[in-house]
Amino acid sequence: MRTFSGIQPTGRKHLGNYLGAIVQWVAHQERGEAIYCLVDLHAMSVPYEPAGLREAVYDTAATLLAAGLDPGRCIFFRQGDVHEHTELTWMLSSVTAHGDLTRMHQFKEKSAAQRELVSAALLYYPVLMAADVLVYRATAVPVGDDQRQHIELMRDVAARFNARFGETLVVPEGHYPEVGARIMDLQLPDRKMSTTGGSPQGTVYILDDPKTVAKKIRSAVTDSGSEVVRAPDKPGISNLIEILAAVRGIAPHEIEASFNGSGYGAFKGAVADAVVEYLAPVRERYEALRADEGELERILAAGAEKARAIASTTMLDVREAMGVGPVRARQ
Ligand code: TYM
Repeated sequence: MRTFSGIQPTGRKHLGNYLGAIVQWVAHQERGEAIYCLVDLHAMSVPYEPAGLREAVYDTAATLLAAGLDPGRCIFFRQGDVHEHTELTWMLSSVTAHGDLTRMHQFKEKSAAQRELVSAALLYYPVLMAADVLVYRATAVPVGDDQRQHIELMRDVAARFNARFGETLVVPEGHYPEVGARIMDLQLPDRKMSTTGGSPQGTVYILDDPKTVAKKIRSAVTDSGSEVVRAPDKPGISNLIEILAAVRGIAPHEIEASFNGSGYGAFKGAVADAVVEYLAPVRERYEALRADEGELERILAAGAEKARAIASTTMLDVREAMGVGPVRARQ
């Protein structure tokens, strides 16, 4: 299995990112080859500050290393360092339907929310994401539930490319965690936890201090009942059950069984304690890793070199299949 996944460098990654994606990333390091990328070029699809982007790359790199990414066991790099991603984006755009891009939920939401320029980059976002994965011929893409539509699009694009130009790319599979694939905002439990669309009090950041984490969880919105069970009319409690199950690595029904009759107060306290304990070591390791930007650059540069070696081979095949450049001499 070859795994690929990416994350936007925003610096403030949250519990949804952690349980939906990062936990899987760490686990996939043990299952074959794993390639992970900080997608700085994707971050340009909305208004941003250049100096802030560079800082955010370091913040996110240190967060992921603190969470357990090991550059000795995976390839960890910055997207903008490997030019093959942008070259393949253009190649893939010739087999991507414009209509499919305008139908993407995330494009519709983000373009509607945009008060400044709605950039062409926002529309092209999923093509660059397809290129990220396809340039490594990755087979597995661990992501949260919100990326399903993007994954389906990249599968269609890969299949269309192969049908048009001959078998060149690998059609990858999305891997969604059984528990934690869609963590909701603690204050607005009908919305996913997110840095942009949620509420500040309802978003637990990985680097929040323990007091803040506990406070946010204890003040999570719940319904007027008292039973700790998942139900469509109990989105707040259902979300907390999902969070505790993901943190403990067990099934949600086991959480329901162990909190049967205990009431919301005790349950929320247990979730708060468990999440604090879960995130505390990450936050501690982060401080030391973030302090050494030279070392972070060295790690990312070494990762980019390894990534380029794989990506450039795919691009030779893509260029040849598409009739770009001379025919390669066969040895
Ligand atoms: P990003 O940076 O928004 O999110 C990173 C990962 O976190 C997951 N996630 C969640 N999981 C559960 N509950 C939530 N509330 C939640 N919010 C976010 C996301 O599904 C994602 O897996 N487009 C991608 C980055 C990307 C990428 C790629 C991913 C670029 N190229 C290639 C995979 C393969 C994104 O914006 O992720």
